[in-house]
Amino acid sequence: MNEPLGVIGAGWVGLVTAACFADLGHDVVVRDVVPERIAELEAGRVSIYEPGLAKLLERNRERVRFTLDLADVFSAARIAFVSVPTPSTYSGEADLSAVWSVLDELPEPSERAILVMKSTVPVGTGEKVRAHLDARGLAHVGYVSNPEFLAEGTAVRDFRQPDRVVIGAFDEADGDAVESVYARIEAPVVRADVASAEMVKLASNAFLATKISFINEIANVCEETGADVAVVAEGMGLDRRIGPLFLRPGIGYSGSCLPKDVAALKQLAGNSGYHFQLLTAVIEVNELQKRRVVGKLAKHLGSLRGKTIALLGLAFKPNTNDMRDAPSLILAPRLLAEGAVVRGWDPVALEEARPLLRGVELCPSLLEAVRDADAAVIVTEWDELRELPSAEVREAMRNPLIVDGRNFLAPDAVRAAGFRYEAIGRVASDLSALPETEETEPELLT
Ligand code: NAD
Ligand code: UGA
Repeated sequence: MNEPLGVIGAGWVGLVTAACFADLGHDVVVRDVVPERIAELEAGRVSIYEPGLAKLLERNRERVRFTLDLADVFSAARIAFVSVPTPSTYSGEADLSAVWSVLDELPEPSERAILVMKSTVPVGTGEKVRAHLDARGLAHVGYVSNPEFLAEGTAVRDFRQPDRVVIGAFDEADGDAVESVYARIEAPVVRADVASAEMVKLASNAFLATKISFINEIANVCEETGADVAVVAEGMGLDRRIGPLFLRPGIGYSGSCLPKDVAALKQLAGNSGYHFQLLTAVIEVNELQKRRVVGKLAKHLGSLRGKTIALLGLAFKPNTNDMRDAPSLILAPRLLAEGAVVRGWDPVALEEARPLLRGVELCPSLLEAVRDADAAVIVTEWDELRELPSAEVREAMRNPLIVDGRNFLAPDAVRAAGFRYEAIGRVASDLSALPETEETEPELLT
């Protein structure tokens, strides 16, 4: 069935939604408010880096149309997916101004239309939107909550093979209409009331963040007690009640979603009079975790003043050029403040990083980033970094120290290649592997 669809917001979620539904045979009209974005999409260019997305849009060029005009969407489609940004405000609450501007601009459709909320919104948003639509005399515009669970870097796969599709509707027939659009996607469908659908999304992201902060704290205790967190995570993850995913310790969760959604849920609870203590700890652990890398560098190098540190991987995770809330944005200024010379390398996000990482020397190649460096820090686990412990890199560095913020490399192999190696929650950081020289001797340990 080719039900024409609308998508409002041409970002990560909107473009993936449009491309995947078009690939299932729907005609899709995509609206954004940024003229340059629409112009480049019309010209067949996609500025966000998401594996498979550009190809999918190209393959479905005939079925996807772009527009700046919201009325265009509703003249072509009965069902429109809203995927506009809902970033954090200073208070931690979600900024819903883009959602409300869609509502303010909403044309009066001549027949029944359905607004489907894919943006992540606080519980209670659907109720407020419903009341707003009714007050405007738009009772014939239905509202459905259909939260999105894709992750960047694997967004196309996640959209096509989701773990579940959640549909929360005020009106069963609207819910049925949205469910039928997903008919060709094989996944359990959870039908819910609107508030519960909204909460499934926030609770899922908060739970993922909790798992990460938990394993990060276990990693920190492993460092104190001599256990190896990689073995611990494997042993825990084999318990089906726990599961192996999201037990990778590192330098904390980041990106455009987990931090803001955890803060939004904490704030939502607080506004309703409930102090969500667990999330307060999850956030605090995450903030502290980002800074542990600096301590690890100081442990090996002593004062960082004048030392050259290469930050490898600048985007918040591999396979994306998304710099929102990336840990490199915290680490670089911290290291600059310590007086270090900071270099940065990323295979796809250099242009996005440039305006955000002032004072950082951005390098087009890995080798340039590590040349004469006193330490290389794996900030984001790009596949290219598997090759880091090579003879070429070893010779290029002034001091062959690798701080692996993602536990990405095999410690024994890295040490066998002649590097000093420090990871997260894996104690045996081998300070004796190298002959000590004036330059490499760790000041704090003498
Ligand atoms: P994004 O910033 O990549 O894209 C949002 C797009 O909406 C931008 O192109 C922006 O110009 C456009 N926009 C802003 N106001 C608009 C308006 N009034 N009309 C039309 N377009 C408008 O954001 P994103 O990462 O795609 O996230 C969108 C929503 O989906 C957020 O609520 C986010 O929390 C949620 N989400 C994101 C992901 C993800 O991995 N990025 C996953 C699940 C859910
Ligand atoms: C996350 C969720 O995984 C998606 O389900 C959700 O739809 C999305 O947020 C959203 O709401 O926008 P995303 O942020 O793209 O997706 O990426 P994740 O793979 O979840 O990674 C988030 C952060 O957690 C990254 O910084 C990553 O490095 C970190 N992480 C992840 C860990 O530190 N350890 C892990 O074991 C897993």
